[in-house]
Amino acid sequence: MTPAELANLHRSAFQSERNWSADEFADLLLSPHVTLIAHSQGFALIRIVAGEAELLTLAVHPDHHRQGIATRLMTQWMSDAAAQTAFLEVAADNLAAQNLYRKHGFAEAGRRRGYYKRSDGTTVDAVLMTAALPCGQGPESPRTP
Ligand SMILES: CC(C)(COP(=O)(O)OP(=O)(O)OC[C@H]1O[C@@H](n2cnc3c(N)ncnc32)[C@H](O)[C@@H]1OP(=O)(O)O)[C@@H](O)C(=O)NCCC(=O)NCCS
Repeated sequence: MTPAELANLHRSAFQSERNWSADEFADLLLSPHVTLIAHSQGFALIRIVAGEAELLTLAVHPDHHRQGIATRLMTQWMSDAAAQTAFLEVAADNLAAQNLYRKHGFAEAGRRRGYYKRSDGTTVDAVLMTAALPCGQGPESPRTP
């Protein structure tokens, strides 16, 4: 997926959030710490630093919701990530995503009050969620003998 395709899909999925531009996606993809997991109708962007994986964003096109695409993306990055723990932030009113993340072992670890600014001027809290990762044995992690 090109940066422009990522930006288009992100805009379709996040209709009330700030849009991420193609340039922002291009910059992220240049980082050696960032990995893109893509499906034709969705993608996940992960950043791994010092053994911690952060889910930067996850988007599935609205015409293809509830078809298991996010489940496949989550399963893939969580099993492949060379990290011991994972974290993410999700809007407090985004119950669909929170349900998805709980199914993948994430639990709430804190909140940032009024973190997300909506296009209608309102704000919503960010829920910080964390999970242990099954592997932590990818190429960036030392293997035990
Ligand atoms: C959240 C999102 C990524 C889910 O993608 P998806 O491909 O539809 O998800 P899946 O089909 O894999 O669903 C997996 C589980 O997530 C939960 N879920 C997904 N959509 C849901 C909804 N609308 N309401 C409640 N739970 C939902 C369910 O537990 C579901 O399991 P089930 O279908 O067996 O009930 C998608 O709705 C999306 O892109 N939303 C907009 C962007 C977004 O919110 N991204 C995450 C921000 S942090």
